[in-house]
Amino acid sequence: MKHDRRRFLSLTAGSMAVIGVNAIAAGNNLSGTPSQTAGPFYPIKLPLDKDNDLVQIVDHDDQAKGIIANVYGYILDRDGQPVVDAEVEIWQCDANGRYHHPDDPNDAPMDENFQGYGSTRTDMQGRYRFRTIKPVPYPGRTPHIHYRITSPAGDQLTTQLYIKGFAGNRQDGLFNRLGSKARQQAVSVEFEENTDDSAQLMARWDVVLG
Ligand SMILES: [Fe+2]
Repeated sequence: MKHDRRRFLSLTAGSMAVIGVNAIAAGNNLSGTPSQTAGPFYPIKLPLDKDNDLVQIVDHDDQAKGIIANVYGYILDRDGQPVVDAEVEIWQCDANGRYHHPDDPNDAPMDENFQGYGSTRTDMQGRYRFRTIKPVPYPGRTPHIHYRITSPAGDQLTTQLYIKGFAGNRQDGLFNRLGSKARQQAVSVEFEENTDDSAQLMARWDVVLG
């Protein structure tokens, strides 16, 4: 398991090159990614291990339950330029639908091997990457991953990633509050089969600040 973790970290530079220049080619005058509430479950106390691999906690023998996914992309400004050294934080419930937060009323068992929260910084090309689980529903919500992005200049965007085409999205209050189809599409991400053995799925989400 620890071996897997090293392999994931060492893969970052190489496989990220594959995503190439598509995002940059998206051009300028982009619409900012819609913001969404942080909700009640941003960690009160950050975990000791808060790296970009949420599936493997330091010194745990076992990985988290769930379908493992690489979630990655660019952080861009509205001119389509990469935002370098932005802090990207994510948090989500575990495979049982339970947040690692004392206020979560869900009494589902906690997956002690899921980190629940992770943070990273974008590289010189504005790229970020997490290894986490494909989000699952919990009572009252369609699957989502919470994001908070803070640029070096201090601009901050809090939002949520959704699974593209997931049936429950249509009944979800926060998803519907986005209003237009375009705004819903801007936060809806395809989970596809991954191309290396670091994860089962991969999901690319480029986020536009501003
Ligand atoms: Fe949530």
